[in-house]
Amino acid sequence: MNVPNHVAIILDGNGRWAKSKGMPRSYGHVKGCANLETICDEMKQMGIKYLTVYAFSTENWKRSREEIDGLMRLFRNYLKKCIKISDRNKMRIRVIGDPSAFDADIQESIRRAEEHSSQYDELHFQLALNYGSRDEIRRAVSRMMEDGKSGVLSGEVTEETIDSYLDTAGIPDPDLLIRTSGEQRLSNFLLWQLAYTEFYFTDVPWPDFKHEELVKAIEKYNDRDRRFGGVKEDTNV
Ligand code: IPE
Ligand code: IPE
Ligand code: MG
Repeated sequence: MNVPNHVAIILDGNGRWAKSKGMPRSYGHVKGCANLETICDEMKQMGIKYLTVYAFSTENWKRSREEIDGLMRLFRNYLKKCIKISDRNKMRIRVIGDPSAFDADIQESIRRAEEHSSQYDELHFQLALNYGSRDEIRRAVSRMMEDGKSGVLSGEVTEETIDSYLDTAGIPDPDLLIRTSGEQRLSNFLLWQLAYTEFYFTDVPWPDFKHEELVKAIEKYNDRDRRFGGVKEDTNV
């Protein structure tokens, strides 16, 4: 099986999955987080080089205090565990999004996980926390304007210039985007970076998205005819 170089995932459906079991939404998040750990290990074993996961959006602050508190507790634990996960998978962790909205200890855990794992390059794991694509572009444009004023940035602005100001600077664009749990929208995820990505939507909720589901998504990806706006060289059709 030909595996994509970069897989992006909108992990969705934790809340509905928990509700269907008569459990609180926070239980769905705990199970979803455990599944993320498993899927990370599997991606490494399959030889996937880049994995980007949407875990908390700039819009998710609209949720109840209770749910947000539960998610913050989960991020706290998970980010600490990330050191071990990165050692196990020789995995480099980068957080994309704006961490400044989080409590200081969470920001410190992010810094530690990124610093500790910067020695690794077998799997590149981007975790989107307080991430919104429009906010990322807004922050990039502000920095470009500052650098323009100070003279650090001059000359023509190319697509590569914009790439280099985004949170994903240096990371290749995703080849495959997976969204679980039935919704077929981007919800403000990687609007610039997904320009030529193949999309795969499944009704399976994130806590149930196991190895077989991942294989199914990659098999579907293998059936796709990627063109990037051109034509196939062998047939010219
Ligand atoms: C995804 O699951 C996780 C986060 C957005 C934090 P949801 O919490 O969106 O679950 P549903 O979509 O309400 O079922
Ligand atoms: C997108 O899921 C954000 C994350 C998975 C972190 P949401 O559940 O927040 O998106 P909407 O509200 O259904 O569009
Ligand atoms: Mg959702």
